[in-house]
Amino acid sequence: MAAAQGISADDYIAIDPAQARIGQLLFYDKVLSGNRNISCGTCHHHDHAGTDGLSLGIGEGGVGVGPDRTPGTGADRIRKRIPRNAPSLWNLGHNSIDVLFHDGRLTRSNLYGNGFDSPAEEWLPKGLDNLLAAQALFPLAAQFEMAGNLGENDVIGAVNNRIDRGWPIIAKRVRTIPEYGQMFVQAFDHIEEPGDVTIVEVGNALGAFVASEWQSYDSPYDKWLAGTPLPDDAERGRQLFFNNRCASCHSGPLFTDQGFHALGLPAFGPGRTRRFDPIPRDVGRMGETDLLADAYKFRTPSLRNVALTGPYGHNGAYPTLEAMIRHHAHPILTRAGWNLSDAGLPDVPWLAAIDAAIHADAAEMKRQNAAIRMRPINLSDDDITDLVAFLNALTGESALDRPLGRPESVPSGLPVD
Ligand code: HEC
Ligand code: HEC
Repeated sequence: MAAAQGISADDYIAIDPAQARIGQLLFYDKVLSGNRNISCGTCHHHDHAGTDGLSLGIGEGGVGVGPDRTPGTGADRIRKRIPRNAPSLWNLGHNSIDVLFHDGRLTRSNLYGNGFDSPAEEWLPKGLDNLLAAQALFPLAAQFEMAGNLGENDVIGAVNNRIDRGWPIIAKRVRTIPEYGQMFVQAFDHIEEPGDVTIVEVGNALGAFVASEWQSYDSPYDKWLAGTPLPDDAERGRQLFFNNRCASCHSGPLFTDQGFHALGLPAFGPGRTRRFDPIPRDVGRMGETDLLADAYKFRTPSLRNVALTGPYGHNGAYPTLEAMIRHHAHPILTRAGWNLSDAGLPDVPWLAAIDAAIHADAAEMKRQNAAIRMRPINLSDDDITDLVAFLNALTGESALDRPLGRPESVPSGLPVD
């Protein structure tokens, strides 16, 4: 049986509050996107516990926030769905976090001399404070998330040349807004004047915000660790959780081993296709390591505040915790009974054929079934109800009341989602 572990304030990376305050504004400022039409907050929104409530996100070109977000119209409409579920950002500033993204494509490393092993390899600039600061640079350079389509703006044009070429353009947009320029001079010792601000400080401010804003460890479970009993159903669920293998993968204070496992979630959507993929599939960890043994593996997610952050899984295949647990218990059976209508996908008629393509590919479905490394777990309906009660006991009491929250306005003057 895995040991229960708690969290304390000392377990988080140290951040500068003045930098986090800049990060809060940048997080919601659409000036960071190529077409000035989307912010980090659009997909990781405070009203949706740091996510968007969708199975697969709708990137730049879309309109609105949360499950009601629409794919846009006319020339600006989206050309592709975001291939994976937008994760919530809870506790990513915890010291133990050493891998980001569903496929773990960002880790700390000395490989490229800049502190990180990332898709930008040696082109990621030096000086980024932590994983979250490094991560923040990637959505900015991603076509469908924030950068936009070729021909639409200067950022994507530069990125198309080489991944690092768009970042100086974005940094200049930010530092030439006087309010930001002054804030950077005040918050960063080495910044003497606004002209000194680069994408590194932009990333560090965003990282400081994400690391400090989404800390959460005041759940009923944390109180249980300190001696207060859980309600009966949650207590039964806790015992099931720690005795039924759940805690072998969902381990430690964040309920994740940060490892990769093939659970065989139902596949749909555009996939994270690699250059030579013949079909719109997502091979998960293998896309990063190129090892066949990693095919269709995805990172174990943290379960803190999980009751607030559906739909579930790397592609949001399941709308409820109950459905997600049933999948764990009997992956092959449950995926066979799954329908595309179970996913939370705003209607996009021009993408409907792609959404359904992979599910209809019998050979690929066979490969995915064969890769599953989740042995069935025997759980009764009552057990599942109790496990859900336990997962609900992982919700922080102040989860919906964040230190800085969503700003009413941002220095660019652009509308805030
Ligand atoms: C269009 C929606 C969208 C936008 C905009 C967006 N993200 Fe994300 N974010 C995602 C998705 C989807 C993933 C998961 C991608 C993957 O794992 O392949 C993600 C992953 C992350 C992660 C890693 C989480 C983890 O658990 O590994 C962080 C941190 C993050 N985003 C922060 C940001 C920041 C900061 C910005 C703005 C600079 C931003 N995001 C903009 C959708 C979005
Ligand atoms: C073999 C490792 C493993 C075991 C055992 C395991 N899980 Fe998971 N769990 C995962 C992985 C990996 C994912 C993400 C799968 C994906 O995205 O494709 C996940 C996802 C989840 C999610 C969805 C979280 C989210 O944010 O999307 C929940 C809830 C969950 N597991 C609960 C449980 C419970 C309850 C048990 C015990 C009955 C359990 N898990 C056992 C590895 C495991």
